[in-house]
Amino acid sequence: MMQKTPIAVLISGRGSNMRALIEACERPDYPARIALVLSNRPDAAGLEIARAAGLQTIAIDHKPFGKDREAHERKVDAAIRASGAEIVCLAGYMRVLTPFLVNAWNGRMLNIHPSLLPAFPGLHTHEAALAAGAKEHGCTVHLVTAGVDEGPILGQARVPVHAGDTPDGLAVRVLEQEHVLYPAVLLDFIINRYAE
Ligand code: GAR
Repeated sequence: MMQKTPIAVLISGRGSNMRALIEACERPDYPARIALVLSNRPDAAGLEIARAAGLQTIAIDHKPFGKDREAHERKVDAAIRASGAEIVCLAGYMRVLTPFLVNAWNGRMLNIHPSLLPAFPGLHTHEAALAAGAKEHGCTVHLVTAGVDEGPILGQARVPVHAGDTPDGLAVRVLEQEHVLYPAVLLDFIINRYAE
């Protein structure tokens, strides 16, 4: 049996990228296993998917912490550490992070973003790509640093933009690529960078 690196997956909603990571981790030859799925939203649909897959889940609602983002992050960080995870994968985790969590996981926290960064950081990336007349769009997996959607790029996948594309249609095409890209980049990260 190979040594699998334990990871935590952080979600806020649907969890389709998390599902792609779950499926990858189920392969015996994949170098990661999911030690924890954590959501800042107790009603995130992805939590049900994770529980059904037999994974440890925890919800740490951000609302009781009000404006104290760092206090919420300290709970999140403690839960991740308690799980034994060594790498954190943000997968639709819709929180802007403070320097506390960014620094705590510096070089070991990955994010997937639905655009070809540095183009279209932030929200509503598919609308933005169409409004800009982009011929090509896609997704990026990058290391998380202090600037939102700014860390070193680990991998990208591209899709063509078609005449008459809607934001929703484009989102579906990009999401398919996200589900391929994230497990592939994580594999590469563990084998070639993290294990060094
Ligand atoms: C994905 O498209 C992901 O790239 C995006 O949210 C969606 C989550 O879907 N993330 C961001 O916009 C981060 N700023 P999922 O819950 O089905 O994986």
